[in-house]
Parts: sequence; C-alpha cells; structure tokens
Amino acid sequence: MLTKTLANGVKMPMLGLGTFLVGEGPEAYDTVLQALKDGYRHIDTAQMYFNEESVGRAIKDSGIPREEIFVTTKLNARKLGYQEAIDELNVSLKKLGLDYVDLYIIHWPSPSFELNQATWKGMEVCYQNKKARAIGVSNFKIHHLDSILKTAKIYPMVNQVEMHPGLNQTSLQKYMAKYDIQMISYGPFMKGEVFNPDGPYFEGLKQVADKHHITVAQAVIAWGLARGVFMIPKSVTPKRIIENLHAQDVELTKEDVEAINLLNRGRRVYTDPDNNSFVKQA
Ligand SMILES: NC(=O)c1ccc[n+]([C@@H]2O[C@H](COP(=O)([O-])OP(=O)(O)OC[C@H]3O[C@@H](n4cnc5c(N)ncnc54)[C@H](OP(=O)(O)O)[C@@H]3O)[C@@H](O)[C@H]2O)c1
Repeated sequence: MLTKTLANGVKMPMLGLGTFLVGEGPEAYDTVLQALKDGYRHIDTAQMYFNEESVGRAIKDSGIPREEIFVTTKLNARKLGYQEAIDELNVSLKKLGLDYVDLYIIHWPSPSFELNQATWKGMEVCYQNKKARAIGVSNFKIHHLDSILKTAKIYPMVNQVEMHPGLNQTSLQKYMAKYDIQMISYGPFMKGEVFNPDGPYFEGLKQVADKHHITVAQAVIAWGLARGVFMIPKSVTPKRIIENLHAQDVELTKEDVEAINLLNRGRRVYTDPDNNSFVKQA
C-alpha cells in the first residue's frame, strides 16, 4: 500500500475508500468489509455521512489489527466550536467502536474566522489527548487556512478538498506545501462528468488511459497520486472497488500528469465553501 508521511510523522495510505452516500446498515458494512478484504487500509467517513456505526463494525469484524487501518472522520459542520470539537470526537469514537481515529477533520469552514479558530483549538486538544493521531481541515480555501494558521499551535496536517480534472487545485496545493499540509482529493469523478464521452474531460483522460491500458477512473486516481494527492474514491460496486485500488500500481509520466492538469476549467460540482448555508455561521 502506497503511503505518505504527514508533517507529524504519521504514515497515511495514499489511496482510501470514500463512504459519502454509503448507507448506514448492510451497504456500509458490506462495502467496507469487502474493501478491507481487497486490501484497502484507509477508510474515509464523517459524522454527516451517518454511517460510522456500520463502518466501525466492519473494521472490527475484518479481523485486521486496528493499527493497520487508517480511519478518518469529520466534525459535523453544524457543530463547530471549541468544546463541540472535543465532545463530538467522543461521540464518533463511540459510534465507531474505536479508542482513537487516525485523522479528525473539520468538515467545512464557517464564514466566521473566530469560530474556525476556536474549533481548531478543540481539534488541537483532541490531538494532544491522543484521540486523533492527526488533525486537519476540509473545504478550507487559502483565506480560511490563513486565519487558523494565525492562532494555531499545531498546523493542520491535511486539507480535504474537491479536486479532480475539472478543478485541479494546483495553486492551493502549492500554497499548502509551504506549511507541509497535505491535500486529500474528494469527488475525483466529478459526479460522473469524467465518464461523459461528450464532456470536456473524457477524451483527454481516455488518451492517457489507453496509453497505459487502464480505465478512465484509474487514470484519474493515478493522476492524483502522481501529484502527491491522497485519493479516496467512493464505490459500493465490488468490481469498481478493486479497479480503483489497482490505480496505485499505475505509473503515469510527467507528460500524462501535465496533460490531465491542462483539462482544468475551475469547475466545481460540489458546494463552494464560501457559499455554504448548512454550516454553523457564527
Ligand atoms: N470533505 C468533503 O466535504 C467531502 C465531500 C464529498 C465527498 N467526500 C469524500 O470523498 C469521497 C469521494 O467522493 P464522492 O463520493 O463525491 O465521489 P467520487 O468518488 O468522485 O464518485 C463516486 C461515484 O463514482 C462511481 N464510481 C466509483 N468508481 C467507479 C469506477 N471505477 N468507474 C465508474 N464509476 C465509478 C460510484 O458509483 P458506485 O458507488 O455505484 O460504484 C459513485 O457514483 C466521498 O465518498 C467522501 O468520503 C468528502
């Protein structure tokens, strides 16, 4: 399993399984158990996915030693705040049936920089208490990062953001590199847009895929990995779960990476973090 070391020395598998919209109950349980059997060692969940209990049961029933699996969860965007960050991790740990998570992330920033700074202090406590081996943020743009870096004692180790061929986030990645903050991509397949033969991404991706005898999905994942970005594609389809995992065996050339970088159109398929009404506002 390809891994990368975070700023605090923790090793994190570069490819994981996303679980957004994977239903609590048999769907999440079976999918996570299957993925672990197939070789995944990194599972990405969140309080707002409402599937932590099934994810946790699958991890336990897999029989794989806890320390071999990297588990991420995220603080509910409606529950930002210093004490909330601390209390909510305990709620997640109980649901997951775990003593600690490997990564705990603020799911979305508030428009209030003060609230983000206070929440981050709570995240630092979770890290210091060893209930999270690493801490980070998600959906933070440069101005959100700048504001928490001003008061942070510990810098975020990751930022999970929408990143795919339509929104390659190379400038944000460069900015984050200055602070040793790693990028995790979400939504790599653009809600299916990368597979649309009439869309602006398919042809370029197919050329790279054909050259390496791989699928378009694998080309997207391999492209992210080659750029040093953590990739967490979601699938509940057994064949695709394996297909996605094998993308880590693909080595793209610099030219392939650049060709996919050039498909960028600044296109978001998820909510803009500056325009998000479902987060706690202040
Ligand atoms: N931090 C955040 O705010 C945030 C936001 C969104 C997502 N995320 C995380 O990122 C993960 C990934 O993002 P995502 O779930 O939005 O979408 P995604 O991984 O880009 O795409 C998932 C979709 O692609 C399909 N798919 C998966 N593998 C495929 C393959 N090899 N060939 C063709 N189709 C394939 C899946 O179908 P089937 O499942 O039917 O196979 C599903 O419809 C999430 O699950 C979640 O963990 C985080």
